[in-house]
Amino acid sequence: MKWNEFADWGRRVADWTQDYHLTVGDRPVRARTEPGAVLNALPPVPPEAPEAMEDIFRDFEDIVMPGITHWQHPRFFAYFNSNASAPSVLAEFLASAIAPQCMLWQTSPAATEMETRMMDWLRQGLDLPEGFAGVIQDSASSATLAAVLTLREKALDWQGNRQGLFGQRPLRVYCSSEVHTSVDRAIWVAGIGQDNLVRVPIKGGWRGMDPDALDAAVQADLAAGLQPAGLILCVGGTGTGATDPVDRCLDVAEKYGLYTHVDAAWAGSAMLCPEFRYYWPGIERADSIVFNPHKWLGVQFDCSAHFLKNPDDLVRTLAIQPEYLKTHGRDGIINYSEWSVPLGRRFRALKLWFLMRTYGMEGLRQRLRNHIAWSQALHDRLAAEPDFEIVTPPMWSLWTFRYLREGADLDDLNQRLVNAINDDGRIYLTQTRVDGVLVIRFQAGQFETTEDDVMMAHDVITQIARSLN
Ligand SMILES: Cc1ncc(COP(=O)(O)O)c(C=O)c1O
Repeated sequence: MKWNEFADWGRRVADWTQDYHLTVGDRPVRARTEPGAVLNALPPVPPEAPEAMEDIFRDFEDIVMPGITHWQHPRFFAYFNSNASAPSVLAEFLASAIAPQCMLWQTSPAATEMETRMMDWLRQGLDLPEGFAGVIQDSASSATLAAVLTLREKALDWQGNRQGLFGQRPLRVYCSSEVHTSVDRAIWVAGIGQDNLVRVPIKGGWRGMDPDALDAAVQADLAAGLQPAGLILCVGGTGTGATDPVDRCLDVAEKYGLYTHVDAAWAGSAMLCPEFRYYWPGIERADSIVFNPHKWLGVQFDCSAHFLKNPDDLVRTLAIQPEYLKTHGRDGIINYSEWSVPLGRRFRALKLWFLMRTYGMEGLRQRLRNHIAWSQALHDRLAAEPDFEIVTPPMWSLWTFRYLREGADLDDLNQRLVNAINDDGRIYLTQTRVDGVLVIRFQAGQFETTEDDVMMAHDVITQIARSLN
């Protein structure tokens, strides 16, 4: 393809994109493809001869689109949303067009400096103290890995990268049972070992870590000659929105000198609204915090905001400077590749800039508030139905429920209900387990969802449940 043919195709793709987003609500949310259908529709060998863009585009529509689950559907109430607002898609288009590799300041000063500024806009939005500095990671998993590597290096007096972990006292890291599996993976990759990830019991309606149990676990480890190194807190866990009592857990961390990382991948966006900050009192005392603008806030995937009280610890852990990466005579500049595991970096700050300018912070806050209010209204309606039980209460816009039927195996009944709802296609939900019991999750957070979309879930859920055999 020649660049002078690009604009025609670009317009066609733009038209297609606009039409897709305007009509996506008419499609079934979850893909209806059978396993192997897309694989079998793709030739097993690559083409030797060039093919026309017209044919490629037609196959995109015929082969790819039927196999897509529509994450931008206004009634996508499963998992956590991965929103792609219109301005962030435009910014991503531009970032793809110029395709800079933003590993160092000098490899694209605009990208680095915009990243600094955008992360500071978000810091102000969250009302974190001025000392916090931010970096955009590709995912919350990467931010958590970076934090775990940092806590490991601090605990090993900065010798782990050099000497490895062999012969060291085992390091201990604490979290609740409700954290995302990205924490386990970070522990594996950092060489700390799953057996040294201590699951502290939870208590209370927020399903948060019991700080007294945390204190006792640290003391037991000290008595056993192990080395407590870090604490990973959860604010808005994936299953039920579980949230640790941040201030009380940080008291314990400070008492024992633990490095602290807070995973607020989903719920962090809502913290732009001051009225929800009671969920993370004392957050300014954490060492590291991550939230994903690529989830609820509306930034096209991927874009994970990682804030650090002392970025020097992270840079000391991850920076490596072969001669070809040195930027001689440029002291004082930031090379963000020293803040993350991958060297190569995309220009992700651009889509944050487009998003925050297009809607303004108040516009973004209003969307989040709407989602939470509508989700809670739906919760109230379902709670009033005698054959439904709310299992966990709304945490922001997430809550869980079960359908009840006398004499039925409720796990089986509710799994069949989720399957039937998703086969129906008007809405999309997922299940999780709470204390071993299968429950259905509801969360609202799609960028374009409306009150009617959320309320439609009531009719779909109750009708399908009552028609189940
Ligand atoms: C609470 C929580 N933490 C971390 C993650 C992982 O996020 P990412 O896909 O950005 O690594 C998720 C994903 O849903 C999550 O819900």
